[in-house]
Amino acid sequence: MTDFATTKAQFQLPAGMIYLDGNSLGPLPRATAARVAQTVEAEWGDLLITAWNKAAWMDKPMRVGDRIARLIGAEAGHVVMGDTLSIKVYQALASCLEMNPTRKVILSDTGNFPSDLYMAEGLCRTLGNGYTLKTVAPEDVLDAIDDSVAVTMITEVDYRTGRRHDMAAITARAHQHGALTIWDLAHSAGAFQVELAKCNADFAVGCTYKYLNSGPGGPAFIYVAPRHADTARPALSGWQGHAAPFAFDLDYRPATGAERMRVGTPPILQLAALEASLDIWDTVDMQDLRAASLKLQDQYIAGIEAACPSLTLATPRNHQDRGSQVSFRHPEGYAIMQAMIARGVIGDFRAPDIIRCGFTPLFIDAADVEKAIKIIADIMQNNLWDRPDYKTRAKVT
Ligand SMILES: Cc1ncc(COP(=O)(O)O)c(C=O)c1O
Repeated sequence: MTDFATTKAQFQLPAGMIYLDGNSLGPLPRATAARVAQTVEAEWGDLLITAWNKAAWMDKPMRVGDRIARLIGAEAGHVVMGDTLSIKVYQALASCLEMNPTRKVILSDTGNFPSDLYMAEGLCRTLGNGYTLKTVAPEDVLDAIDDSVAVTMITEVDYRTGRRHDMAAITARAHQHGALTIWDLAHSAGAFQVELAKCNADFAVGCTYKYLNSGPGGPAFIYVAPRHADTARPALSGWQGHAAPFAFDLDYRPATGAERMRVGTPPILQLAALEASLDIWDTVDMQDLRAASLKLQDQYIAGIEAACPSLTLATPRNHQDRGSQVSFRHPEGYAIMQAMIARGVIGDFRAPDIIRCGFTPLFIDAADVEKAIKIIADIMQNNLWDRPDYKTRAKVT
């Protein structure tokens, strides 16, 4: 059994704060500062450039990728770290379109995170030649897969509602119709056990600054299924994905396997921060995590629905149809979230009306949820959100 009291003690959480936002920016593990300081002082400081070999910096993108592979049900050697998630979406898309050359349609849904859609639009414009992005309502994705689709680009858990797509069913239907699949795991990796290999997924991408606590700007990851790893051509063919970067050949030759998806110099300090967090993740059983997460979510839903009838649940009630976040709708959602933050309950507002909270058992427990419900009930029952300063939108919501 995973000991969540022990994992909680491993995070630095400000006193009095109930942090229901680990699904957006994970909190700081207590070990991170020392790990990063060691990388800075003992590796960068003392070893300088020799650290690429002596501290094995060069191997970090694949070594760390292997530690993430367990959490997402990927085969070892098929996940590689680097860049940002938006870049990895672009890379995966470009590879898939090239692998399915007779088709021109990227299929996605209107619940997808805008950056994924923007990347797809940008790629279609660059390619010209009839390439298009088609978006349908999230519940219509399965039926929209037909023989025109080159690739589906789906974020498994909707960033606003927390609605979860059926990865196995969508992947199976895509394959029946000759389409490839890209899964964005931004709101899945670390939220529950993802099963990429079991679902037969083709590509997946994700970020590490949310549930995986690598810190702001932490590196993304990309998964390439073993059957594609030696044939997918990386559109962003940087030198670190070359078969022999230090041969300095004038011609590009991709590395074997998923390593070819590396682009440029890896972010060693952020990878060190991520490694400190993964030390905690190594102690977590994903079945325990899912059970604890659902329990906290159900507690929150029941408490809010009982105390705050003006808040409408936006997240599916069925356990299998959701991730690890719960969202409620209210026309004054922004002001309500500001009032919550002022009282130490931290979540996100997502336009137009979503009050979103993440439930991450690594550092949130039932007592925290109970306190959060009481505070939100007070805010709603006494209209404490109805203040002009809570209605002025900041740059980041
Ligand atoms: C589903 C999804 N895709 C893509 C992104 C963009 O990620 P990045 O800013 O790391 O490129 C995000 C960011 O939150 C996201 O939630």
